[in-house]
Amino acid sequence: MRETSHLDTLVLARAIDAVPIALMSRRLVEAGLPSWAWTARRVARQIHDPESVVLAARRGDELTGFAIMGFGEESAHLNLLAVESRCRRVGLGTRLVRWLEATAMVAGTFEVSLEVRASNAAGRRFYRQLGYREAEVLPGYYERIEDAVRMIRDLRVVRIDQAS
Ligand SMILES: CC(C)(COP(=O)(O)OP(=O)(O)OC[C@H]1O[C@@H](n2cnc3c(N)ncnc32)[C@H](O)[C@@H]1OP(=O)(O)O)[C@@H](O)C(=O)NCCC(=O)NCCS
Repeated sequence: MRETSHLDTLVLARAIDAVPIALMSRRLVEAGLPSWAWTARRVARQIHDPESVVLAARRGDELTGFAIMGFGEESAHLNLLAVESRCRRVGLGTRLVRWLEATAMVAGTFEVSLEVRASNAAGRRFYRQLGYREAEVLPGYYERIEDAVRMIRDLRVVRIDQAS
């Protein structure tokens, strides 16, 4: 039987989650970059920031994924997203993003932007699949050693294949 992401529960992260989330970021998102941008201290600040949401996916006591979104007046920014390797391709990443998009819409924010490493072909494909368009390339965005691609989604636009 195909594994399903419904084994995972989505909950708001607590202070105690800051260290495992930061470690997951370093391992799965920031691998190979010279410095660690999303340290536990920075994640903890986001957990306590009323203008940001840190969402955790749990399977029992285990953290299986997370996402961090900051909310501005005009747009929301998806700062970080990762799913444990063994839990991928069953819809968990999609659930994390859709949960945060729904929250943005409740807050009256209809644009979501994000940056993804240009070399992250799987990540770019994932976001395109979710309706994000590649808006621009930001040369040297990651510590001058790697470009970023900025991706944007207008939440008011729903493709037929995303409607269900
Ligand atoms: C990107 C990431 C969050 C996707 O998580 P996920 O739970 O596997 O995503 P989903 O199962 O919801 O995938 C939805 C769709 O996106 C596309 N997709 C996801 N991963 C893909 C991959 N490795 N290659 C190609 N397409 C992919 C597929 O169309 C997939 O649907 P399908 O499985 O029915 O074909 C996960 O691969 C990850 O954590 N990667 C490392 C960190 C990262 O790149 N974060 C994003 C940038 S910060």
